[in-house]
Amino acid sequence: MPGAIYAEGLVKTFGDVRALDGVDLDVPEGTVLGLLGPNGAGKTTAVRVLTTLLRPDSGTAVVAGIDVLKHPNEVRRSIGLSGQFAAVDEYLTGRENLQMVGQLYQMSGRDAKARAGQLLERFNLADAADRTAKTYSGGMRRRLDLAAALVVSPPVMFMDEPTTGLDPRNRQQLWEVIQELVASGTTLLLTTQYLEEADHLADDICVIDHGKVIARGTSDQLKARTGGERVEVVVHRREEIERAREVLTVLGEGEVSVAAHSRKLTVPVSGGAKLLAEVIRDLDARGVEIDDIGLRRPTLDDVFMSLTGHAAELETNGETDKETVA
Ligand SMILES: Nc1ncnc2c1ncn2[C@@H]1O[C@H](COP(=O)(O)OP(=O)(O)OP(=O)(O)O)[C@@H](O)[C@H]1O
Ligand SMILES: [Mg+2]
Repeated sequence: MPGAIYAEGLVKTFGDVRALDGVDLDVPEGTVLGLLGPNGAGKTTAVRVLTTLLRPDSGTAVVAGIDVLKHPNEVRRSIGLSGQFAAVDEYLTGRENLQMVGQLYQMSGRDAKARAGQLLERFNLADAADRTAKTYSGGMRRRLDLAAALVVSPPVMFMDEPTTGLDPRNRQQLWEVIQELVASGTTLLLTTQYLEEADHLADDICVIDHGKVIARGTSDQLKARTGGERVEVVVHRREEIERAREVLTVLGEGEVSVAAHSRKLTVPVSGGAKLLAEVIRDLDARGVEIDDIGLRRPTLDDVFMSLTGHAAELETNGETDKETVA
């Protein structure tokens, strides 16, 4: 039985650009699919097709058991969408925006008011609730847009980069809201460029690039595909990078990658702790001073890198290793 979100062979072109180039998706009811991909991968296009905002050139899509192309209006009644481009009315206050959504969904005035109040609290907007949205900061607008998508809890939700532009505290809170939503049975498709977010929230991950799904699986499955352990070394001085590279080339099992600015070298290995001890001994024998060394499993970042050949725009550890050289 197809899942709550199902798509087969979705193609959408804009002139020469194949924004979607044969995308298949199947999201079981009550689960979260993380659609992960770099800028321009086709994430928003996929969301727009699945939420009836855009007609694909070909392919089929079924959401909440309803054919998206044949019955778009019915689909719209069964889904919630929070977009990359916020659908907030600038001239209404935060509270009025939320109440209006409730009324659009035929809630009573009283229920709409109560729900708006809850959501304003939940998204740290209570203090700004009675100001017009045009006075809101970017992060506040984004939160209001997300709150608007949650006024009614539809069986299927789409969130396009829900946490982009949120500070860490608001991101954390949104993650909690999302987890509650899913625990209550909602099926969610969320797009993100943050690997950590997909890792944290998604049951399954689809990596897309250039309109094609290039990998899918759980976070662990994707990590396992990228290979096993690595040794990571941070040398004390830039001048020591070359000598460390020589040691790692001998003891490692593949190419040594170097992030020169952070003086970090990484190489795939097998042999675990025993090998690590050997690396330490050899570095010491060559007079290389190390600031940090460790054995680590691949992160989703490594997965992304090995799949797409480029790093994601991530900021999980506060630093990116864009300078990676083979
Ligand atoms: N309305 C449009 N007209 C022309 N080209 C478009 C249109 N919408 C999307 N595209 C192109 O389709 C491709 C996929 O765009 P899309 O917005 O789906 O990417 P995305 O994965 O959401 O990227 P981002 O991470 O930047 O939001 C891009 O090359 C984009 O320029
Ligand atoms: Mg997008």
